[in-house]
Amino acid sequence: VISTMADDKYLVYHGLMLPKIVHSEESLKHFETFEFRDDDVLALTYPKSGTTWMQEILPLLMNGGDTSPVKTVPNWDRVPWLEELRAAEVLSSMPSPRIMVSHMPYHLMPKSLFSSKAKVIYVTRNPKDVLVSSFHFHKMASFLDDPGTFDEFLDKFLEGEVMFGKWTDHVKSWQKTYMEDRIFHVTYEEMLKDLKGVLSRMSRFLGKDLSDEILEQVASHCSFKSMKDNAMSNYSLVPQDIMDNTKSPFMRKGIAGDWKKHFNPEQEAKFTDAMKREMRDNCNKITWDE
Ligand code: A3P
Repeated sequence: VISTMADDKYLVYHGLMLPKIVHSEESLKHFETFEFRDDDVLALTYPKSGTTWMQEILPLLMNGGDTSPVKTVPNWDRVPWLEELRAAEVLSSMPSPRIMVSHMPYHLMPKSLFSSKAKVIYVTRNPKDVLVSSFHFHKMASFLDDPGTFDEFLDKFLEGEVMFGKWTDHVKSWQKTYMEDRIFHVTYEEMLKDLKGVLSRMSRFLGKDLSDEILEQVASHCSFKSMKDNAMSNYSLVPQDIMDNTKSPFMRKGIAGDWKKHFNPEQEAKFTDAMKREMRDNCNKITWDE
């Protein structure tokens, strides 16, 4: 199931490229055999769709707006990735209710997710902006391959020759699940437009009754500006030879529609055609034109 790619930066797991720096045979074994608890909360994203944002939001919503975890614990230890190297250690000592993130598609999730009552929040972002964000991320993260030109990277993205595979496969896998009311779908763009409104709905989904004042405080703490200044969330603690924030900051722009500054009309037509062809009946709430 696991093999290594020639360039040495990725493992291949069930056909998906995963960066070797944070994934190993052992971490994936831990992932596959992970035992979910009924009160676990898991945020699911395709990379560059708002993972770091959820790692900030969820501890605040789950702890009545208490800012101490987000001010003192780096995001990767506060809300670990289930499939990554740190998960086993971090989760073994984390009290319930545990909060985690994952980039895995639905069909690869550990079996215990389906028999438990754990809740999932799935964040979708306009794939054009995902592509742009990922392109810049590949330039600053030495553990990813060189993206080449934007045109070349666009082709790789459409072919799924990027970490965690095709965007369309990922989104489709999480749109048709048997999770019914245990899954909450939200878009990055909705969060940008009305963060407080989304936080209010999300907190009800999580069974948390938070006052208007607390929701206001959480929204303010989770603004792009505030998170960009939070050393526990902006990846400034990672050594520069691994993530070089001078090439492109991790907290880069945090907006919708930056793709308009990157795509030419031919690239736009090609991308939209491919998306429409592959998504067909699965276009609910998905935007690629805004
Ligand atoms: P950009 O590169 O477009 O700025 P992930 O955490 O899944 O890797 O996604 C990273 C993207 O989310 C980056 O997008 C980052 O700036 C953006 N992001 C992180 N926190 C945000 C926030 N509070 N508001 C808006 N965007 C945010």
